[in-house]
Amino acid sequence: MTLFQLASFFSQCLRCFFTAWAIFLVSSLSAEPVAAPIPNNEKTAPKSELEAGQRAAAAKWNQAKFGLFLHWGVYSVYGGTYNGQDLWSAEWIQENARIPYEEYAKTAAAWNPKDFDADVWVRTARDAGMRYIVVTAKHHDGFAIYPTKASRYHLFASGAYQGADPIAALKKACQKYGLLFGIYYSPLEFRGSPKGFDDADHQAVAAGFDYRTLGPKPYASDRQIAKLAKAQIRELAEWYQPDIFWFDGTWYMMGNWTDEDAKESEAIIRAVIPNVMINNRLGLKHADFNTFENEIPHEAPQGAWEYCWNMGAFWGYNPRNYTPELMKNPEHYLETLGRIASLGGNYLLNVGPDGTGKFHPMATTYLQKIGEWVNPHRAMFDGVSGSPFSTTPAWGYVTCKDGVVYLMIRQSACNAPIAIPALSNRFKSAHLLTDANVKVEVKEGAQEWQIGPVVDAPQQPFVVVQLNVEGHPKELKK
Ligand code: GLC
Repeated sequence: MTLFQLASFFSQCLRCFFTAWAIFLVSSLSAEPVAAPIPNNEKTAPKSELEAGQRAAAAKWNQAKFGLFLHWGVYSVYGGTYNGQDLWSAEWIQENARIPYEEYAKTAAAWNPKDFDADVWVRTARDAGMRYIVVTAKHHDGFAIYPTKASRYHLFASGAYQGADPIAALKKACQKYGLLFGIYYSPLEFRGSPKGFDDADHQAVAAGFDYRTLGPKPYASDRQIAKLAKAQIRELAEWYQPDIFWFDGTWYMMGNWTDEDAKESEAIIRAVIPNVMINNRLGLKHADFNTFENEIPHEAPQGAWEYCWNMGAFWGYNPRNYTPELMKNPEHYLETLGRIASLGGNYLLNVGPDGTGKFHPMATTYLQKIGEWVNPHRAMFDGVSGSPFSTTPAWGYVTCKDGVVYLMIRQSACNAPIAIPALSNRFKSAHLLTDANVKVEVKEGAQEWQIGPVVDAPQQPFVVVQLNVEGHPKELKK
């Protein structure tokens, strides 16, 4: 081999190496399109218009009172099982089971929720007496269930699923059945920060676990994730115009989401939808409502608030949820609804549909049973305030509005009169909420009013007495 041949052999090798490198770089970059730039000068409506919009949104949201939370994504396919192991996990399974990114992405690409039917979901919610839904457009796993243009990681990218856009279809069904439409969105994701996301992760990392063993992350930095989030928030606002934006996952362990990110996101949303409700988990100083989960506050919190929790024990689908032990009974959820309404809050009850797009039959049955009671009693939830009394009675729950107090009395307490603190309002009349012909006796004492007993009380978990008074109900302070 001459010197010239040797040199050209080496230069060919080099060229091959650089071409391969360039192909690798381009393909790895094109795996996730870079999110569209975010203009900083959003055209927001004038302040007065915004404030009027927010007031209107808050009134509609308070009117709705009871909603259905839906956690649905690729995690629903796993149903808490990974490599033959049944885990106490659902929407966090990617993280909890440490599923390599590529492998999870393959499950995502093959996902075909062929039984998804927005009409069924929303009708089931409406029949349960609910007046809004909130659905996960993108959870912490980063997989969008709508055809986002800001990333290739979505339900429509592979072609395995040929059905309707779930977000658009659910919005349409909500319009058809008269429900408010809410979008859950997690700006930060498992594919971002390599530090782990909860205490268990941090302990694992401290004990030597290395996230790099799960494969390369598609994002180099938290900033890229935040940029992607803002592009997707813009899409969700512009394309679907939800009544509610329900954010989650911006806490510190998930990565780096700044106050500026929160403010920019809010500006993006309010420029498109002035009359929207935004929850407190975007990171805003003044959110439209606060969220409580798992623990119901003991006293009525200040401002608009919502309690969310599961029917059972999981947010996402896990078949182990559906036992009488975990699901309790439909009355339990009525009890929760009464308690929350009496504290002035909204109740967002969660169901995780399965990977095919269906509710577990037990969830459907429970929702039907809940609806059988809530529907004829909706008036005690429609746009009401919490109890006018400073203490919670042992016999049930109380809500009120101008001229009316609703007493939600446990069946077991219906045989004898119940007592309420005396009201400062003039008493007009009292009857069953579901039947104005069934009058209820009221004895007005100086300290207490005696109500009932409700003669021939209907055989239902709770009996509601409507107390008509003059003016806005107020406890008589001694
Ligand atoms: C927590 C969980 C999340 C769930 C959310 C609902 O933030 O991390 O999985 O979606 O609660 O409120």
